Amino acid sequence: MLPPLDSLSILKDRYKVIGIIGQGGMGSIYKAEDTRLEGRTCAIKEIQIDVNASPTQQQQAREQFYREATVLARLDHPNLPKVSDFFDEQDRDFLVMDYIPGIDLRQRIEEQRSNHSFIPEKELLNWAEQLCDALTYLHHQEPPVVHRDIKPANIKLTPDGRIKLVDFGLVKIMTPDDTRTITVIQGRGTVLYTPLEQYGGDVGHTDPRTDLYSLGATLYHLATNEPPLEAKERFLHPGALRRPRQINPELSNQTEKAIMWAMGMHPDDRPGSVEEWLSMLHGTGDVYALPRSNDRIAFDRINWVLGLGVFALLTLAVLITLVQQFGLPGLQ
Ligand SMILES: Nc1ncnc2c1ncn2[C@@H]1O[C@H](COP(=O)(O)OP(=O)(O)O)[C@@H](O)[C@H]1O
Ligand SMILES: [Mg+2]
Repeated sequence: MLPPLDSLSILKDRYKVIGIIGQGGMGSIYKAEDTRLEGRTCAIKEIQIDVNASPTQQQQAREQFYREATVLARLDHPNLPKVSDFFDEQDRDFLVMDYIPGIDLRQRIEEQRSNHSFIPEKELLNWAEQLCDALTYLHHQEPPVVHRDIKPANIKLTPDGRIKLVDFGLVKIMTPDDTRTITVIQGRGTVLYTPLEQYGGDVGHTDPRTDLYSLGATLYHLATNEPPLEAKERFLHPGALRRPRQINPELSNQTEKAIMWAMGMHPDDRPGSVEEWLSMLHGTGDVYALPRSNDRIAFDRINWVLGLGVFALLTLAVLITLVQQFGLPGLQ
């Protein structure tokens, strides 16, 4: 990998690097000054092209970056950083966006943990609403945009309490024709927030419900100060995931239910959309709109059998009472 850029380097004759914000699998992210718009601070994300790839592959990766960046630059939402520019220079691609002040939610969890307390539910729900706003916006793009990497470290909290979903490294733009699926492939991070269908970097089976799983897993961590068990472990040991209220008894039943629903192992066990999930969180959702997982179908079947049994016993009791009172017909 190429070394990070030095401070004070000038990019595209315009952006002056002030320092490094972070270092990721595909390059660094820098804080920079926009010398054309005085006083504007921006964040510049570097995506390094694999120099060992063939020239054709490098060209394809660059074209993919430009296609992707064009889509991102069109997005405009208060809970997403505004992408304002993109370009390539010195064998690297760069994405320029607003610099977001504040801390990220991974840091916020650490703060709370060291305080031996939990993030208040009201605050948590406020963040959840803001994240849902951003996700609804992304999922309603034409074609839909799936983030694919929602986790506390990719969510910034500004000093005035606004949430911003960052890291467009794994954004996937869904198109009906699979061959045109556009993804910036990136070194994969933690799997704690990743649903099973996304393991191995598979892009074929991800849809908006993939983001719902990661949203649920992120809220689980925020509500309990503990990351959830990863999906593979949950698959191998069903029932091993502790419910959030076992860790944080102050959490409401409703929020716990919503988190667990979003974290359904199979996409069909999750809400079909962010809106559906939100209506459950608000307590306005129809319970029967819940997906009918195998467990639920089995549960409904047991209910039917029990119902029939009760009906049969009642009928028998009435018959016995009648026989005792009036005797069997024909035996008098
Ligand atoms: N626009 C931004 N403004 C300020 N900080 C940012 C911005 N985008 C990302 N960051 C911070 O930098 C970190 C790394 O950026 P990210 O895009 O997540 O890169 P990576 O692909 O390496 O995870 C994030 O966790 C976040 O704290
Ligand atoms: Mg990140």
